[in-house]
Amino acid sequence: MSTVLDEARAAREDALHRASAANHGAAVGMNVDKVTIRGGRPLVGRIEVKGAKNLVTKAMVAALLGETPSLLKDVPNISDVRIVRGLLEVHGVKVTEGDEPGDMILDPVDVESAHFAAIDAHAGSSRIPILFCGPLLHRLGEAFIPDLGGCRIGDRPIDFHLEVLRKFGAVVEKQPNGIRMSAPNGLKGAKLELPYPSVGATEQVLLTAVRADGITELKNAAIEPEIMDLIHILQKMGAIITVDTDRVIRIEGVDRLEGYTHRALFDRNEAASWAAAALATQGDIFVGGARQPEMLTFLNVFRKVGGAFDIHDDGIRFYHPGGDLKPVIIETDVHPGFMTDWQQPLVIALTQAHGTSIVHETVYEQRFGFVDALVKMGATIQIHRECLGGHPCRFGQRNFNHSAVITGPTKLYGADIEVPDLRGGFSHLIAALTAEGSSTVSNVGIISRGYENFITKLRLLGADFDLEG
Ligand code: EPU
Repeated sequence: MSTVLDEARAAREDALHRASAANHGAAVGMNVDKVTIRGGRPLVGRIEVKGAKNLVTKAMVAALLGETPSLLKDVPNISDVRIVRGLLEVHGVKVTEGDEPGDMILDPVDVESAHFAAIDAHAGSSRIPILFCGPLLHRLGEAFIPDLGGCRIGDRPIDFHLEVLRKFGAVVEKQPNGIRMSAPNGLKGAKLELPYPSVGATEQVLLTAVRADGITELKNAAIEPEIMDLIHILQKMGAIITVDTDRVIRIEGVDRLEGYTHRALFDRNEAASWAAAALATQGDIFVGGARQPEMLTFLNVFRKVGGAFDIHDDGIRFYHPGGDLKPVIIETDVHPGFMTDWQQPLVIALTQAHGTSIVHETVYEQRFGFVDALVKMGATIQIHRECLGGHPCRFGQRNFNHSAVITGPTKLYGADIEVPDLRGGFSHLIAALTAEGSSTVSNVGIISRGYENFITKLRLLGADFDLEG
């Protein structure tokens, strides 16, 4: 005879099964796993970018802090958004579509604790669960964080996050498959300084400090445009936040925050990826929704390599104006430097430049995993442990292969390649589109974590390919 407990267990197992099937479905995106691309055609046409993955997912978490529903606009249909939506729903947040395409309404009025296994099943390969800590500690007094995923582009620890949460007064307990947090005495404003201007840890501080008791001062904060947009959202909700010129952010905690209405900042990483695709394939792509201010540094490098762009009110046209591409020396850095997420797509264009380029990756210690496939396709790229960009970084003398020397121009030839991570994966697509002959790119589902409808967009731009499930 089945008991109530058995039924509850069966219901939970069923929910977990459905959640993990949904995450898997989202991860393979449109059930596509492999794309066979016949390269050598320029990409030409217009595509649109929506809200930034790296803002939208955090804005969704911020809605947890409001006492009333929030409306987020321009939400892209990508699997990272679906993962955060699932996580919010297991915590009792009602998530619905609004009137316009891309509208998302988040109603946190009935927030509740979720079972560890349900959180784990919904978290998939995302790192976002760590950002639920502050809001859940405020709302419920406790939070559980499963062991985290995310792209394999380095160690990606969460030590900065745990350290700041402890300083706010959270009690952090390591458990076998994750971390449990509680705040028996509430959370209190703190004086904080990050060892490195981490995007995630800065967001952690913002999402925690806005409702903490008293004033928080954060030194060495990240100031990426996505962080500034999160600050705009929190201010709309009722927060008091000042940003000084020297990476210092001050937050005065308040007792109550309301829901917000906000149109998300455009995805400048997606825009830069399509720009790089236009350059490498000798094409011409109008990226609707892209804006100049957040892409200033990218545009300078794009021009130095030999690319051309026209800035319009509704987007940016990126194109290859003819002539030879030129080599560059790039060091990735925190904002306002050249973003780490921009280097992988641009490296394909650099294989076509006349001369030797250097890319010194200073944000992640292992972000050149995608290069092996390019070498297989005919690129001349050497990876070095030394800091080759000119400035020593924190990865120097530590055996991390974090500098790339790219010598061009080299003809790329079609090959069978496998996508290693999100940005590396998009760069593999560009390589296949640039190459002579046919390439089969597998594991492309990862790309749908951050690029909305990329298959449809490739079609719109005239790419020649077949899909396999
Ligand atoms: N770091 C630590 N300890 C921590 C946190 C970070 O050592 O507790 C280190 C990281 O290992 C890394 C560096 O600090 O070497 C920077 O990491 P950061 O915290 O800034 O990155 P993140 O918040 O995990 C976000 C984006 C990344 C983007 C980086 C840098 C999201 C979901 N991810 O990651 O985006 O590259 O900031 O701008 O916002 C992507 O979109 O493909 C992507 C990886």
